[in-house]
Amino acid sequence: MERARARQPRKVVAQSHELEAHPQAVRVTVWLCATRPDSVWKLSPPRDTLGLALRGEEGALRHVALTVNGVRHELELEPRELLAYVLRERLGLTGTNIGCDTSSCGACTVLVNGESVKSCTMLGVQADGLEITTIEGLARDGELHPVQQAFHEHHALQCGYCTPGMVLAAVSLIEAGAATDEQAIRLGLEGNLCRCTGYHNIVKAVAAAAGVS
Ligand code: FES
Ligand code: FES
Repeated sequence: MERARARQPRKVVAQSHELEAHPQAVRVTVWLCATRPDSVWKLSPPRDTLGLALRGEEGALRHVALTVNGVRHELELEPRELLAYVLRERLGLTGTNIGCDTSSCGACTVLVNGESVKSCTMLGVQADGLEITTIEGLARDGELHPVQQAFHEHHALQCGYCTPGMVLAAVSLIEAGAATDEQAIRLGLEGNLCRCTGYHNIVKAVAAAAGVS
């Protein structure tokens, strides 16, 4: 009961995006949980409206400029293209994994202007003008990011499929100052699922990277 309550969005702020160029233009509202800076954005209304956009005929292309891992890209995107597929198929950044079809696993997590976002819940055109960081852009000058290093040292992965999303969610959580103890880390990463159930070492790694016990 307590867990179910914790998953409910609390206070939210919203942005709306009108997809005028699409022949079946829909209003997509992006919800950002204001009380959980580590939370991902969610599309609302969820399935039917998004499905309408995804099933629609190919719309007019939209010119989008986005910066990914410090590199600016100018792309012509269909309004229906999800950011996850833009990253993987247009830019070849396959470290962003697709693990579900329900916006629930977090394998596709990236940073959008520094905040963790499930990239399968965001349209590529919504990333226009934004800065995206994928797992490929986290290391600097051949040095692993401290969170990556902590995952390595604490053996926080098994098959590794969830790892890119888990690492990026952890980076966002730590940078937001929300990884204050084990409980906060577990709560902050609840949107990222590990099919190998390696949560114990993942939490240990994030705690080490955050400098908390
Ligand atoms: S692929 Fe995005 S949440 Fe599972
Ligand atoms: S390590 Fe296999 S899914 Fe997490």
